[in-house]
Amino acid sequence: VRDWNGIAQVVLRSPKGHSARVSLHGGQVVSWKNDRGEELLFTSSKAVFKPPYAMRGGIQMCFPQFGNSGTLERHGFARNRIWIIDDEHPPTNHNGNGSKAFVNLLLKPSEDDLKCWPHCFEFRLRVSLSKDGDLSLKSRIRNVNGKPFSFSFAYHTYLSVSDISEVRIEGLETLDYLDNLSQRERFTEQGDAITFESEVDRVYVSSPNVIAVLDHEKKHSFVIRKDGLPDVVVWNPWEKKSKTMVDFGDEEYKQMLCVDAAAVERAITLKPGEEWTGKLELSAVSSTNCSDH
Ligand code: BG6
Repeated sequence: VRDWNGIAQVVLRSPKGHSARVSLHGGQVVSWKNDRGEELLFTSSKAVFKPPYAMRGGIQMCFPQFGNSGTLERHGFARNRIWIIDDEHPPTNHNGNGSKAFVNLLLKPSEDDLKCWPHCFEFRLRVSLSKDGDLSLKSRIRNVNGKPFSFSFAYHTYLSVSDISEVRIEGLETLDYLDNLSQRERFTEQGDAITFESEVDRVYVSSPNVIAVLDHEKKHSFVIRKDGLPDVVVWNPWEKKSKTMVDFGDEEYKQMLCVDAAAVERAITLKPGEEWTGKLELSAVSSTNCSDH
């Protein structure tokens, strides 16, 4: 655990030299590096690393609302709050026995949160790094309220890419998507891998649990595995929107792509005492290990 501008960050390391950093601000993963020390998540050069808002990059926890669809601040309040380390399971680093390095975090609503969202919950987040550098996030959200509540959710994941025009996503072709750029109108993909040449802001619904983000220039790709999260949000702000975001460089849209495992189209409802689990696993595959050799 180390101090970063007054807020603790937990550093996870694999025996092979991979690492990840998780901030107690937002429960946000702020760094994930491979065994060559290369950063795999995007962070804006203009990102602000202090409360009240989540920094622009990494993996943000969007809960209990994704986007602007409800009455709360965009993407909910969880990404802006200070989480605590769940003391029942203190952070561990790799012990060499093949077990994962992990940290467990916990968020409970404050009195102020309850004023704008009057539902008692416990949100437990485990972030783990495997010995081969795979990054896993497991969220468990429990209703500790006397009545049911509903929420939407996303792991808002900023992947670092070398050139957005060279990137394609496989696994979403032929799916329906809701287009945030036209009032969530529903469209159907026409069968090709997704590529990028303008602003994209879509919720692909009922997607497969494994998708791939292929980045030709950088010669590594991401495999995204999810569970309990039916949708995938794909976002790149492109040129015009980038210029409207104060914590984002004008040209940085070329180096990032958000691909979020999410539950957006249909809200998740928990009865009193019930718990929901949503998992994300990210692997970075270097192409020097595979086909072109
Ligand atoms: C994406 C949304 O997930 O996040 C976009 O689909 C939104 O509509 C983007 O613009 C960034 O949101 P924020 O609140 O972090 O600026």
